[in-house]
Amino acid sequence: MTKDYTWWKDATVYQIYPSTFIKGKKGKFEGPKDVFDGETGDLKGIISKLDYLADITDVIWLSPHYLSPNNDMGYDIESYEKILPRYGSVEDMQTLIDECHKRGMKIICDLVINHTSDLHDWFKESRSSLDNPKRDWYIWKKPKYDDKGNRKPPNNWGSYFSGSAWEYDSKTDEYYLRLFDKSQPDLNWENEETRKAIYDSAMKFWLDRGVDGFRIDTAGLYSKVQDFPDAPVLFPEDDYQPSGNLTLNGPRIHFFHKEMYDQVTSNYDAMTVGEVGHCSREEALKYVSASRGEMNMIFLFDTVDVGSDKNDRFRYNGFDLKDLKEAIKTQCEFTEGTDAWSTVFIENHDQPRCITRFGDKKYQTKSGKLLAMFQTTLTGTLFIYQGQEIGMTNVPRDWPIEEYQDVNTINYYNQFKDKYGKDADFAEKEQKLMDIINLLARDNARTPMQWDDSENAGFSDHRPWSKVNPNYKEINVAKQLNDPNSLLNFYKKSLKLRKKYKDLSIYGSFEILDFDNKQTFTYVKSLKDAKSPKAYVVLNFSKDNAKFERLIDGQYELISTNVDKDEFDEEKLSPFEGRIYIVN
Ligand code: GLC
Repeated sequence: MTKDYTWWKDATVYQIYPSTFIKGKKGKFEGPKDVFDGETGDLKGIISKLDYLADITDVIWLSPHYLSPNNDMGYDIESYEKILPRYGSVEDMQTLIDECHKRGMKIICDLVINHTSDLHDWFKESRSSLDNPKRDWYIWKKPKYDDKGNRKPPNNWGSYFSGSAWEYDSKTDEYYLRLFDKSQPDLNWENEETRKAIYDSAMKFWLDRGVDGFRIDTAGLYSKVQDFPDAPVLFPEDDYQPSGNLTLNGPRIHFFHKEMYDQVTSNYDAMTVGEVGHCSREEALKYVSASRGEMNMIFLFDTVDVGSDKNDRFRYNGFDLKDLKEAIKTQCEFTEGTDAWSTVFIENHDQPRCITRFGDKKYQTKSGKLLAMFQTTLTGTLFIYQGQEIGMTNVPRDWPIEEYQDVNTINYYNQFKDKYGKDADFAEKEQKLMDIINLLARDNARTPMQWDDSENAGFSDHRPWSKVNPNYKEINVAKQLNDPNSLLNFYKKSLKLRKKYKDLSIYGSFEILDFDNKQTFTYVKSLKDAKSPKAYVVLNFSKDNAKFERLIDGQYELISTNVDKDEFDEEKLSPFEGRIYIVN
């Protein structure tokens, strides 16, 4: 890892999910009818909160703000160059960009270019006839037929959102590939003209307006194995299988990223972070090695997938602290000794709330602070998600499936019901699934931001499209801003410490000292030379007291703790207690 300080390495990035951040415009939205039943946030709302954000973050990552039917919450783009009317206009977006810059902040956008919406003009043309000039901009294949003459998809690839990854289009009697929802056809990256159009419309259009880079959606999926073979059978009970390395980290993926870098991002002072998910260390280094020139950094899912099957998060078996340590080790160490760079995150719009997952309800604020200490001391660029800073939680367990709105959750539930609905013990099976959905569904991150204890949590003056978490009266920004002991103020303090000691926290080497301990997570951040001070981080991830041990020699100076002086016991860590020392 090189220690050349760069703004995007030093940065704390704050992710905004525009539909649930805040609505600036008063009254009900009166524009074109769309899928939202209730109010969403908007760009004016974001602008009104920039001073709040400037105190926490250096860079905003804005989840999709583009024109979209929102079958997958904006990750299904109808036009890269237009804004969803509910969110505002291109002018509002320009104001947001300029207002960020005025405050010394940067802004990056989501770049969703593995697929578009089926309402995008490119796809409308592509599907119109076999000889349309844009036919080859998407991936079309002829049907297969079984012995009885039944029409079948071209292969057994499954969609990330359940069922087949192929959608039949009767107009031309062919299937198109859509690794996600049926309304999200995959673009054909093998076609050079398509790639150029993506670079111009989705990237340069916004970079030229001052956007400082991109979070690149599904950045590992563009290169599909071109003879489209069947995928190996991992789940024998299912008709369709994960397409694995036939679509992820495929044969030409690095060629595509290199081209994107050479032709677009290298011409700007742009930050790029690609969502890759799973790959070997060798593969990961190809994506992010500085000398190769592809992307600056990637998101790997080792940590957020802990306890789940990596091909299906709802196949969940739980985890212990050792599993979490293993995942963090992979994340922190893969760049060690190289010119590559990495990321730190435990929440985003696709993940449940970290307090519910890794903390504890009884120790709400304390475990939130422990997670803040954890995140702010790990190596790489730090990403936090809206609401994480105040400890927003998952939705209540008693919310029925009808309250969940995410296409991923709904399709999964429906497929499960189709499969097991007639079983005598369905009710029991369903409750087990609902436990897992409540723990892991993406909906948990998609409730409105809790600004204050007024109606709708200060998010909007009319009913929001997504139900507010009922705990908003206890957990909200207004309450925490005024409380010196709040999680929000602890985050601010921890983020300042991260910057103050950045050689150790952001750039330092990471070493776990108590790998086999299932209660505490103790690690050292260092400069790898014996003489320099080290950061010693010890976190009790359990509901029980734990022994405090000094596992390295030296003078210990306590620089951060989440307990009061009178609770502090030199020898013992209370439940969810964390400490950070500088050791000389
Ligand atoms: C990414 C996004 C997710 C979306 C998917 C399809 O994983 O983070 O929200 O559903 O891509 O675009």
